[in-house]
Amino acid sequence: MPLLRVLAARFDGTRPFGGLNVVGCLNVTAETAVLAGVLRAGGAKVSLAASNPLSTQDDVVAALAADGVAVYARAGVDRATYYEHIARALGKGAGEVGGGADLVIDDGGDLVSTLHDTRPDLVKRVRGGCESTATGVLRLRRMVAEGALGFPVVAANDTPVKRIVDNTRGTGQAVIEGVLRSAGILLAGKTVVVAGFGACGSGVADCARGLGAIVVVTEVDPVRALDARQRGFRVLPLAEAAAIGDVFITATGSSSVLGAEHFAVMRDGAILANAGHFDVEIDVRALLGLAVIVEPAVRPHADAYSLADGRRLLLLAEGRVVNLVAADGNPPEVMDVAFGIEALVLEWLARTTTTPATPQAPPNPLAPGVHEVPAELDAEAARLVLAATGTLIDTLTPGQLAYLDSWRLGS
Ligand SMILES: NC(=O)c1ccc[n+]([C@@H]2O[C@H](COP(=O)([O-])OP(=O)(O)OC[C@H]3O[C@@H](n4cnc5c(N)ncnc54)[C@H](O)[C@@H]3O)[C@@H](O)[C@H]2O)c1
Repeated sequence: MPLLRVLAARFDGTRPFGGLNVVGCLNVTAETAVLAGVLRAGGAKVSLAASNPLSTQDDVVAALAADGVAVYARAGVDRATYYEHIARALGKGAGEVGGGADLVIDDGGDLVSTLHDTRPDLVKRVRGGCESTATGVLRLRRMVAEGALGFPVVAANDTPVKRIVDNTRGTGQAVIEGVLRSAGILLAGKTVVVAGFGACGSGVADCARGLGAIVVVTEVDPVRALDARQRGFRVLPLAEAAAIGDVFITATGSSSVLGAEHFAVMRDGAILANAGHFDVEIDVRALLGLAVIVEPAVRPHADAYSLADGRRLLLLAEGRVVNLVAADGNPPEVMDVAFGIEALVLEWLARTTTTPATPQAPPNPLAPGVHEVPAELDAEAARLVLAATGTLIDTLTPGQLAYLDSWRLGS
């Protein structure tokens, strides 16, 4: 995780979080432990709860606890324990030493909503936070609409750098990895149909092409469809693509993209996988309705559906997000960039905001609400990753800067 390594060294020198409580509600995984170490290097007192009990790595919890992090998480806990853990990470009371948060880092919005719902006494102290997911940002925007959000939160999930590294490259590769592991096929020469040419779908399409597949893209957005066509992909309506694909991968964020009318014309042996967040993109119920025999787990995370006419379709990961179910999710390098951007946001919040509760403090320059990641922080993340990986780039010369600044200089 080269970006986090660079930031740990920098924070160790500058101590941007000296004396601040940073409370996180994140997937408690090895990558998150690295982030906690970076924040602690910067002087933060870190408390951590899990944002998803199913992703908690108990060995990581034990290692963090042994290292002095206040971590409240255990794999597979029930809902009540899950929320109790968040409450404990927030601490006991606003006036107590060690209680409450100066900065928060959330993944899905449960920390920020629990804080407002159950501990309004702690809201005033919070200078700001960041949110890692699109779902969490939607919840925050609903809080803003009701006038309920009491501090600024930066939506860290959607920056150009994160989109490139995470959605396009990370997810693109991991989705193909999930398909290969569970279907056990050679992709070269196969026709892969990618539904949706957004950030994820374009990465999946590139990756499949890189392995020698013939890639067909289906889209509903004319701009994305044109982009796909001009990048050399064949663009077809799904009704046509359904009859020629060997592998189908949905990455649309929409529902019932692959349905009964498509299953009806697919080739024998066609493979179905979903890369979208929810398991609604492949109409599994319709597939079940058409099937005369279902053979579960013919390979790991692959179920075979035999249809009345003898064709067999292979559904991967039950239509759930294939890279998370059938592969290892994102590699640490991807989380490095996502967490690196969040660490830069927290550093920026620590530098530019004050504790609103302090009477003598100047007003917080960031109003309560949802804010975008400042573009310079995103560029800094890219610059640091390039530097950490030994990649040099050019800089504009003074003459070029003057040229670009002037409207007088034309042809
Ligand atoms: N698998 C993962 O690890 C992972 C990672 C990030 C995002 N996601 C999920 O993947 C999905 C796509 O994310 P994204 O960032 O690429 O979104 P995006 O908005 O950039 O792209 C989605 C594309 O799908 C197209 N589309 C919508 N409905 C369609 C349909 N019926 N047929 C064909 N195309 C259609 C849209 O026009 C758009 O171009 C979301 O559900 C997102 O949450 C998954």
